[in-house]
Amino acid sequence: MGDQPLRSDKAGELRVADEGRQVRLAGWVASRRDLGGVYFLVIRDASGRVQVVIDPQADPAAGEIAKDLRDEYCVAVTGGVRRRPEGTANPDMPTGEIEVAASQVTVLSPADPLPFQIDDRSEVDETRRLKWRYLDLRRPRMAANLVARSRGVAAMRRSLERQGFMEVETPTLIRSTPEGARDVLVPSRLRPGSFYALPQSPQLFKQLLMIGGVERYYQIARCYRDEDFRSDRQLEFTQLDIEGSFWGRDDVLEALEQVIVEVLGDLRGIHLETPFPRLTYRESMDRYGTDKPDTRFGMEIRDLGAVFAGTGFRAFAGILDSGGVVRGINAGPRGLSRSGLDALGEIAKGAGAKALAWFVVEEGGTLRSPVAKFLGEAEVAGLVETFAAVPGDTLLVVADDAGVVAPALDRLRRHVGHPDPDALRFLWVIDFPVFEKAADGSLAPAHHPFTSPHDVDEMGSDPEHALSHAYDLVLNGSELGSGSVRIHDPAVQRRVFEILGIADEEAESRFGWFLEALRYGTPPHAGFAVGIDRLVSILQGEPNIREIIPFPKTQTGADPLTQAPTGASAEQLAELGLAVVGEAAGEEAGGADPAG
Ligand code: AMO
Ligand code: AMP
Repeated sequence: MGDQPLRSDKAGELRVADEGRQVRLAGWVASRRDLGGVYFLVIRDASGRVQVVIDPQADPAAGEIAKDLRDEYCVAVTGGVRRRPEGTANPDMPTGEIEVAASQVTVLSPADPLPFQIDDRSEVDETRRLKWRYLDLRRPRMAANLVARSRGVAAMRRSLERQGFMEVETPTLIRSTPEGARDVLVPSRLRPGSFYALPQSPQLFKQLLMIGGVERYYQIARCYRDEDFRSDRQLEFTQLDIEGSFWGRDDVLEALEQVIVEVLGDLRGIHLETPFPRLTYRESMDRYGTDKPDTRFGMEIRDLGAVFAGTGFRAFAGILDSGGVVRGINAGPRGLSRSGLDALGEIAKGAGAKALAWFVVEEGGTLRSPVAKFLGEAEVAGLVETFAAVPGDTLLVVADDAGVVAPALDRLRRHVGHPDPDALRFLWVIDFPVFEKAADGSLAPAHHPFTSPHDVDEMGSDPEHALSHAYDLVLNGSELGSGSVRIHDPAVQRRVFEILGIADEEAESRFGWFLEALRYGTPPHAGFAVGIDRLVSILQGEPNIREIIPFPKTQTGADPLTQAPTGASAEQLAELGLAVVGEAAGEEAGGADPAG
């Protein structure tokens, strides 16, 4: 091939304007058809696809090579761009009006028979996709996801640099930073028996940077959390992490709104209106039953306490008397059969409710429901009025403790709602509680223990209800990110540890270094972290963040391609002062590799 560049043009960029030009393309054989001795190839490179025609009569040498080409051979093609004959244009391809008449074809690299078809149409089992991920990444959908991710991150950097932020890298072999998940531990060879933790987030280091005089920090930070896998969770993931000194909540929200506007402008070509709506945590729970509401559709929760005050319906009366609530949603006209309505009952029960009461509004304002006979006229009228219900509407009502009703109605609302798939509803949820109660009754930080309470005294006297300066960013019902104004007073920080039941000595041994740092003139500061994988997956319409991560792990934390995690050799273990107790479990990933 000499000094000639391998290619002159990108396959996906050729257009009618290129008619008559000689071009040299390089890419992969996406498909090959033999039509009566003439070969039609589709050549794909990162820019897209173009049709290449090889006519052995015109060019016997090229014909010889074309005969042996197979899918996904890597090839170079030289030829002339010409308009496709009348009636053969392909409107589905941006290059569909032209084709390249090849005069020379060179195989750069042949390909073995493929484990699966490389196109977006074929459904391939995910483990196979991950085992041959490099082939999976050739699929247009995956290639587009990688491009979107890269452009999204570039837009974030652009906006933050413009806003005067500085990128700083923080270490990944660290002492544990608590974000509520299990740590991924890394044994130390030089100090056998000691372990580093991989960061669950750069939280404490970014706070140290504020103490260090950095006033606007950001980082595209890899984080590690050993928690249960879900469609929106991975063992390792990436955050856009920011922090600022002499900053309050609104500064953080405004800076991030600019970042999101820049990303959406680039990826979607739209200008988002700011400021994004803000809901307090309380409002969000009352109106949607969740702290991450999907506001693409209405069906807001209504409280029926006033309607059922003094009701003769014993199930509701008992609950109201014991401090519970009766709440519901208007699910609109559903025309459900009895079994369809019972299925909704099962959904409510699956979310923890004891029962679901449903009511179908009939002409004349009466209600069809198994419990209608227990309700007085005023209650029926009150229900219809509260939900502004019209004949045909289905009302779904749950009575229980507020903490049980909220998730049940949230689940029902999401089940029956019809969100516009093209809508993007960003919003902030602010004023989260400082703590949340775990199942065993103990308190845990609702965000993390470095979050500033509204009122330190209230936090001490009524920790369960005390509010904090923590806030979340929500998009279409998913939590995209979280942040808070931080504690900069070491005495307040100690008080939080105390309420969390972390005794002074333990606080000293785990966080003494951080408490000391807070004593050297710590500026008030605040920050945030956005889950980049989640943001890009929603914008790309992908149901799972694995589609946005080039080399993700399976549900069991394995990588079918490299077969990580693997065992370690006896020498490695000895050097680290480690011994594996019991059966090694590396086989699941596809065979441990003891040589590691
Ligand atoms: P938080 O723990 O809420 O906050 O994390 C911020 C965002 O990171 C994303 N995220 C994940 N994405 C994929 N897989 C996971 N396992 C995973 N866990 C979290 C989510 C989440 O909203 N240090 C604080 C931020 C701060 O206070 O500045 C923090 O990490 O999108
Ligand atoms: P019961 O008498 O407990 O079997 O309840 C009869 C019906 O009342 C149930 O099928 C529900 O429709 C309704 N119901 C009872 N308890 C509740 C509750 N806590 N929340 C909503 N509906 C309820």
